[in-house]
Amino acid sequence: MIADDELAALVRPDSVNKRVYTDPAIFALEMERIYGRAWIYVGHDSQVPNTGDYHTTRLGDQDVVMVRAADGAVKVLYNRCPHKGAKLVSEGDGCAGKFFRCPYHAWTFKLDGTHLGAPMRDGFEGTAYDPTNPQFSMAPVARVDSYRGFVFASQSAEGPSLRDFLGGVASSIDNLCDRSPVGEVEVVGGVFRVLQESNWKVFYENLHDTMHARVTHESSFRAARDEAAAIGEMPFELLIQDGNGEPYTFWEKLELRAYRGGHGYMEGIFDPGAATRDPVARAHFECLSEAVGEERAREVLGMNRHNTILYGSGSPHNVFQQFRVIRPLAVDRTLIEIQLFRCKGAPDAVFDRALTYANLINSPSSNVMPDDVELYRRCQQGNNTRGGEWVSLHRYAGTDRMLPDGAVSTNGTSELPMRNQFAAWREYMLADVPGEAAHAAA
Ligand code: FES
Ligand SMILES: [Fe+2]
Repeated sequence: MIADDELAALVRPDSVNKRVYTDPAIFALEMERIYGRAWIYVGHDSQVPNTGDYHTTRLGDQDVVMVRAADGAVKVLYNRCPHKGAKLVSEGDGCAGKFFRCPYHAWTFKLDGTHLGAPMRDGFEGTAYDPTNPQFSMAPVARVDSYRGFVFASQSAEGPSLRDFLGGVASSIDNLCDRSPVGEVEVVGGVFRVLQESNWKVFYENLHDTMHARVTHESSFRAARDEAAAIGEMPFELLIQDGNGEPYTFWEKLELRAYRGGHGYMEGIFDPGAATRDPVARAHFECLSEAVGEERAREVLGMNRHNTILYGSGSPHNVFQQFRVIRPLAVDRTLIEIQLFRCKGAPDAVFDRALTYANLINSPSSNVMPDDVELYRRCQQGNNTRGGEWVSLHRYAGTDRMLPDGAVSTNGTSELPMRNQFAAWREYMLADVPGEAAHAAA
């Protein structure tokens, strides 16, 4: 067990001890104190449209199953049979039918997890076996709630509501949904998976690390520029790779928002003017205008926002309709699962564009993402040496403007987002009351 004062000493206002990335004991505590407390994204309700449909995932180190129960509600249950503890539902998505049946000794459970039956009931005569005792049912996760179809669960019975937890970044989920003329999105297909040989927190930090783009991604933005010069135009496919090559002065002008709980978002990096001149964006605008009026359509599609950080869950992207779910597997192993969303009722080309973006920027076959993954691995490797104890988060420290619920950068290259994440991390790791930490100040 690591004492609270030892944990507290790992995070300073402008730096963090490398142990937070490398110590397996700290990782185990994070599973308990962050993933065991916070609201964590489980999946989207469109993944379980019909009764009995399920989606398996993990809340930190806990296997869970999200299921559409008979009353239409979405439940989140620990994926454990109460007989001998077998994982009840195998990995993936599917339909359980009318009930869950354990593949080991055929105990059955209603879709809300309650005990239904066990074969050869005579064997329980005179024993304490009691189908109404929760000990014989699948255990539900303490709290489940959804926000515009995005289902979250918290393993703590106490703590802020989901809406309060989402705070300032709920607007990213709103905008993702509002891009649909009917205000709804649905998950399409499976997921892109990327396995990273690094600690989960490095990925969150990189999401708003504007100083790395033109360095780490030099090979892809140069190739995109060479190609554009050769063909005499800059189509969407090249434009999204070219963006990383912007000079430092460009990144400095961007705004970074940091909210309590480690959340935040950054201003978009693609010229919204170019988007309205392009035929896909134009068709989207016209379709949305018909449903909600031109003024509202302009407001919705004009929200120029890049990566959003939902600390503990991952990164939704409203403009390109994706959610990169970040799943810590071990202190030096992290799985990223990229879900793609269709804006219901929007032109097909809008989804095609989201798919193109994910393919070119985030997928395992992307030209861009492997650069980041390599650098995350190097951070893990370097921090495993005896070459130093501290990681620097000094850039623009002390200059950020405080807001009632967070802070905003005064320079887009500020390491404010990382400092904000570690302020939340510290609160989570030290808070006595479950859920309190979700309101950590920036
Ligand atoms: S472990 Fe599930 S029925 Fe025996
Ligand atoms: Fe990157």
